[in-house]
Amino acid sequence: MRGQGYYSRLTRHKTLTAAAIAAFLVGTAALAQIASQPPQLIGAQPPMQAIPAAPLPKWVVDDVRQMRAFPDQPPLIPHSIEGYQLSVNANRCLTCHKREFTLGSGAPMISVTHYMTRDGQMLADVSPRRYFCTACHVPQADIRPLVENRFIDMSEMGVNHVGDQ
Ligand code: HEC
Ligand code: HEC
Repeated sequence: MRGQGYYSRLTRHKTLTAAAIAAFLVGTAALAQIASQPPQLIGAQPPMQAIPAAPLPKWVVDDVRQMRAFPDQPPLIPHSIEGYQLSVNANRCLTCHKREFTLGSGAPMISVTHYMTRDGQMLADVSPRRYFCTACHVPQADIRPLVENRFIDMSEMGVNHVGDQ
């Protein structure tokens, strides 16, 4: 009796080992397949190797204001901001875009929302939550997107346009 139990345990042990090996092989094959497809944002370069940095892109600085992709999109910056200081003590953007300075600079005024606190309270000066302009407003570079962009303007999604007829 003891002998039989020993042998059946042995066969069960072998079956389990075979199953473990099979699982290991299948798993390795799957991993190898994942590894052969480089992550899209890194590209084919080995991630641990130092490769020369790509040249800096050219900013679009043609001064043409861009159409907004949706009504409350922060408009894109159409001019160079190279070297403009934006710190706690100095805000170069406001020297042109603040209400008091727009007559001289010809720049569009920061919109009324930039003077509101989050509770809708109007302030005399720009609201602290709108102080760091480049948290929302960005310039554009003329480069190939890293991932395909499938954005569809919401006015092309089958809505009836107000005032069309
Ligand atoms: C020397 C003045 C000046 C400075 C400084 C300046 N701007 Fe401008 N900005 C303009 C003018 C003028 C325009 C109108 C378009 C043009 O001529 O480029 C403009 C346009 C813009 C627009 C587009 C608005 C729209 O409705 O399309 C944004 C956004 C903007 N600027 C953000 C910034 C930010 C952010 C900074 C700081 C990093 C900044 N600007 C600094 C003068 C300035
Ligand atoms: C928290 C995000 C945010 C920050 C920070 C911010 N903006 Fe804006 N900005 C927006 C959005 C959203 C709009 C468009 C809707 C609106 O007017 O509120 C806008 C609109 C504008 C416009 C167009 C106004 C018009 O009437 O056409 C200008 C110019 C502008 N911002 C400049 C600035 C400058 C300069 C700063 C820094 C002092 C700044 N913004 C900080 C989000 C931001």
